[in-house]
Amino acid sequence: MKFDLEEDHVMMRKMVRDFAEEECGPGAEERDEQEEFPLELWAKCGELGLAGITFPEEYGGVGADYISYAIAIEEISRVDASLGVTISAHSSLCANPIYLFGNEDQKQKYLPPLAAGEKLGAFGLTESMAGSDASGTRTTAVKDGEEYVLNGSKIFITNGYYADTYVVTAQMDKAKGNKGIAAFIVEKGTPGFTFGKKEKKMGIRSSATYELVFENCRLPASNLLGGEGQGFKIAMITLDYGRIGIAAQALGIAQGAFEQALKYSKERSQFGKTLSEMDVIRFKLADMALQIEAARLIVYQACYLANEHRPISKHSAMAKVFAAETANSVTTQAVQILGGYGYTRDYPVERMMRDAKITEIYEGTSEIQRVVIAASILKEGN
Ligand code: CAA
Repeated sequence: MKFDLEEDHVMMRKMVRDFAEEECGPGAEERDEQEEFPLELWAKCGELGLAGITFPEEYGGVGADYISYAIAIEEISRVDASLGVTISAHSSLCANPIYLFGNEDQKQKYLPPLAAGEKLGAFGLTESMAGSDASGTRTTAVKDGEEYVLNGSKIFITNGYYADTYVVTAQMDKAKGNKGIAAFIVEKGTPGFTFGKKEKKMGIRSSATYELVFENCRLPASNLLGGEGQGFKIAMITLDYGRIGIAAQALGIAQGAFEQALKYSKERSQFGKTLSEMDVIRFKLADMALQIEAARLIVYQACYLANEHRPISKHSAMAKVFAAETANSVTTQAVQILGGYGYTRDYPVERMMRDAKITEIYEGTSEIQRVVIAASILKEGN
């Protein structure tokens, strides 16, 4: 067993860190304040290959592995968690189900512009009555000749409004429960597909979160992803991979907050010595570093399993819940170390603490991750 990163991973970290520090970090506070979606930075992510890291070159991707993907999201989220989730939702929740379940025509049509970042992707699963209970989808799809007709709405959709391509689930036969659900590729601009409420959020404020509305939205039958009735499994498998991205985002937030607290502790003096010379602060820093190290190992382990095409449900859920709880604990401690200054918007730890909270909620709450982990260990016996 080797714990060293390979040269490709080290290069990815350096490339993304330079981009993040030079171009993403400086405007992050302002974009958060203004709730401004980072369109220009997204275009640059495309130029750098960050929109299609894990997809093969034949579909316009970089052909890199999941560790590279996690490192990229971690490094971006270290300075701007909103941009981190923009990339993660695009790659994991839209391009990836098309890559995993699309037919060759769908992959040829949709993947190259997504992987190049020319188009942005989003995923429509959640509804007002189908949050943690993802099988409770009420949006309907009815087959009408060579078309499917969608009616209903989706809420809390990351990248909504700005995205060009959406993977959306809908119920085709309520009597069949989750086996009646299908997944569709929906293009922005399709008649009958509009946007509703824009959410005003506590954190990740420069990530766009919109309602999607479908009113007699007609899709060509060729936009069905997988088969009729396969939508729930497609969504579950998509989330298995997606949770790696959110775990990496949480890890990046924790790392960013830790570095801010470490730096401040060496600069700030009280009672005639720096905070870093006081045991009470040193122990906090030690605990933060310990949590981050453990989170990083578990996130990269989930990536390793994804690279090996091994089952990842349990490990991606473990990575997500552990990294999310680490991000919340570390950012809270970072604010504590910075004290009154940490509570103001003059320092980024305030934003990081707000951003951390969502990692315990989206792509499955921490409670749902434990449901997934428990189901897996009870089935496997370990
Ligand atoms: N892989 C493959 N198949 C899976 C699966 C997986 N990971 N998970 C479940 N399935 C299959 C089961 O094997 C079962 O199949 P059979 O009927 O053939 O045996 C079927 O799906 C139903 O499984 P369950 O009975 O376990 O399903 P459930 O209704 O009890 O739900 C759940 C399970 C884990 C709670 C699921 O509903 C879930 O993950 N909920 C959370 C939803 C979620 O994460 N939402 C996030 C929205 S997206 C988002 O947040 C995006 C964003 O903004 C960034």
